[in-house]
Amino acid sequence: MQHKPEKTAIIGAGNLGSAIALGLIKSGYLQAAAIHITRRSANKLEALSSKGFVTGSSNTEATDNADVVILAVKPWQITDVLSQIKPALKKEAIIVSLAAGISLSDLSQTVNNHPLFRVIPNTAIAIGQSMTCISSQNASDTDNAVVNELFRQVGEVMMIPESLMPAVTVIASCGTAYALRYLHASAQGGVESGIKPADAIHLAAQTMKGAAELILTSGDHPETEIDKVTTPGGITIKGLNEMEHHGFSSSIIKGMMTALKSMQK
Ligand SMILES: NC(=O)c1ccc[n+]([C@@H]2O[C@H](COP(=O)([O-])OP(=O)(O)OC[C@H]3O[C@@H](n4cnc5c(N)ncnc54)[C@H](OP(=O)(O)O)[C@@H]3O)[C@@H](O)[C@H]2O)c1
Repeated sequence: MQHKPEKTAIIGAGNLGSAIALGLIKSGYLQAAAIHITRRSANKLEALSSKGFVTGSSNTEATDNADVVILAVKPWQITDVLSQIKPALKKEAIIVSLAAGISLSDLSQTVNNHPLFRVIPNTAIAIGQSMTCISSQNASDTDNAVVNELFRQVGEVMMIPESLMPAVTVIASCGTAYALRYLHASAQGGVESGIKPADAIHLAAQTMKGAAELILTSGDHPETEIDKVTTPGGITIKGLNEMEHHGFSSSIIKGMMTALKSMQK
């Protein structure tokens, strides 16, 4: 197989499955007709079929001759779906699971001898801005390239050892909620200072976006950029130190460790 799959099956046309399908055609990487996407409620597939995707409720038809099969069903549905599609899988088909908490070893209990991928995107996949973490087992360099290239169409990708999956899930998937809670708190501070709520949210959101872009484009350490804003004896450092006295950084780290521990139970 070349890097670009000729046929991709997406099992589960929910939030994530649909976002991936739409992102892959929006980027121009794949044609809609090269993607077969399924869900059990066939009547809810109209929006996707109208865009030219092959749709239906038969997972075996979708899987038949597919180079890549993306499983976007809930974690507790993975084993049943895998057992169902196993007889229809092409010998060298790449299996990609998005299911949180399902390990590569869990997947290999049902399908072995296939390149297996465990992929954790985040909700910004809906706008092509996901941070997607990928682990693989039994995969060649070509298989890794195929899956990386697919998910690069809907954001950034990072290959990681599977042992780090819980840790990256906290920072890159749960992290969306943590960042947005900061955004909301920041806007609330603005509202208390007399700014209209909608304006405060816009100000906070664009400021966060700009701050993140500064780090992503320069590769600088965050403290290097913080130094540029914190004039000695100035306003910003007074605010920042007050936040730290109330446990700003510490509460984020402790929250992340709690989330991590709850995942490892
Ligand atoms: N949302 C996130 O931010 C996120 C992030 C990382 C990982 N994940 C993982 O991604 C997976 C999907 O999450 P989601 O938020 O997209 O869930 P979702 O919106 O509930 O989508 C799941 C889809 O699977 C379909 N489905 C269920 N059983 C099926 C079957 N036997 N054959 C074909 N389709 C079937 C459902 O439609 P029908 O009921 O009509 O069949 C539904 O459309 C989960 O495993 C989750 O852990 C999600």
